[in-house]
Amino acid sequence: MSDLMGATQAGPLVPPFAGAGNLIYRAAAVPRFVRGAGCFLEGEDGRRYLDAEAANGTVAWGYDSSILQEAARRCFELPALPSFCESSLRLRVLERLERLFSDAIQAPGRVELDLGGAQGMETALRIAFSNNGPGTVVVFEGAFHGRSGVTSMLSSSPRYRELLAAWGLEVVRLPSPDCRTCPHSAASAGCGTGCVKAVSRWGSELSGVGGNGFGRKVSAFVFEAVQNVGGMVVPDPALLRAAVEHARSQGAVVIADEIFTGMHRVGPRWGFQLMGVEPDVVVTSKGLSNGGAALSAVWAREPLADPGNYAPGSHSSTYIGIPHALAVVDTVLDRWEAWKDVESDVAVLEREMRERLAELAERRPSVIDRVDATGGTARIVLSGPHAPRLRQLCTTVHPELGVLVASTGMAPDVINIHPPLVITGAELDGLAEVLDLALGALTAELSATAAAGARGSS
Ligand SMILES: Cc1ncc(COP(=O)(O)O)c(C=O)c1O
Repeated sequence: MSDLMGATQAGPLVPPFAGAGNLIYRAAAVPRFVRGAGCFLEGEDGRRYLDAEAANGTVAWGYDSSILQEAARRCFELPALPSFCESSLRLRVLERLERLFSDAIQAPGRVELDLGGAQGMETALRIAFSNNGPGTVVVFEGAFHGRSGVTSMLSSSPRYRELLAAWGLEVVRLPSPDCRTCPHSAASAGCGTGCVKAVSRWGSELSGVGGNGFGRKVSAFVFEAVQNVGGMVVPDPALLRAAVEHARSQGAVVIADEIFTGMHRVGPRWGFQLMGVEPDVVVTSKGLSNGGAALSAVWAREPLADPGNYAPGSHSSTYIGIPHALAVVDTVLDRWEAWKDVESDVAVLEREMRERLAELAERRPSVIDRVDATGGTARIVLSGPHAPRLRQLCTTVHPELGVLVASTGMAPDVINIHPPLVITGAELDGLAEVLDLALGALTAELSATAAAGARGSS
């Protein structure tokens, strides 16, 4: 068996000139990639990796260098315009993006661009505060909205706030929408009346005093239709609807974080369509550029981002909307438009992933608690916090093929799977084969540890 995850690397794992805090270096061994095509990446030692993580669901179309080549052609004539200059390319992209949102919400809106997911979320808050004034932001437990100063305040893991946080921002966390960790789940199969009440009773109580007129101002309610970093948690739509209705009754701007769930990652174009709720502001990024540019789009329902409510000059950043990023989005939007049956194709992917994972759950009951699939996402819930180890095993256990899957610090018992949406059935077979081997190796390791423990205590 080859151990190519680090065997080709001379010297220490973190090169002396590289910032060691980068997430890349959380693993014990890190392959270095030299090329990619379709759903596969290739390490510098020639080893192939099937990428079922796809940069946290970003690479929906797989690794396709023709996107970048096409994008370069589209902005060939333009100089590298900084963001302070308008262009017809920018206006075309804004108009196309606006339609993606307003077609689904059936209301006109305006699109603002930003640099990436976290910055897009901050711009969404900027628009909410510009309308409502600064105030409390309400989120769910288990949320992840980025690692910038402000968004790390919204994200559930305190770890994200340790080094940088906007301490002045008040954030209230509603109970987790994850039935697996909810204290009420023993009493009810889904989100029962108690849970719905729990997400609907904040208001004047936020002041800690109670009574009408004592409430703090809640400026925004922020949600993910599926919490990916939280462990691929799909909220009960009834719970989410109740939270959204209550937020509206409190005057909050309702913000959907579709950075991960947008562009068919969970089935429909937007995750909120799956949930039957309609936000006021939507942020998306990953599926717009297929990883080819740092760009996010923030849509705000009229009149939230009109000149009266969000005055020109409220926001800027030098590199927002530089031509190559716009051209990448323009090119990727063409691809999406040409994919006629995307929803039914993603439904097939969901079914195929569920079938394969269900077989694995049957074969490996001692380490798998449950499996789920939603659109182009799936998860394996393990019997304990073994996801980082399983993730590692997936890269090394098979002699020829590594598999990349995701695990997060917030859900160490969950393996997240979000491959390119164009993954084929044969590639899913390869994924299942490697997962099965890795699960077998994990089972053996856990048994050996348990046996050693039993020997030690006897
Ligand atoms: C739901 C969600 N929100 C926000 C972010 C932050 O986006 P970025 O990493 O581009 O800042 C991510 C990134 O994974 C995400 O999945």
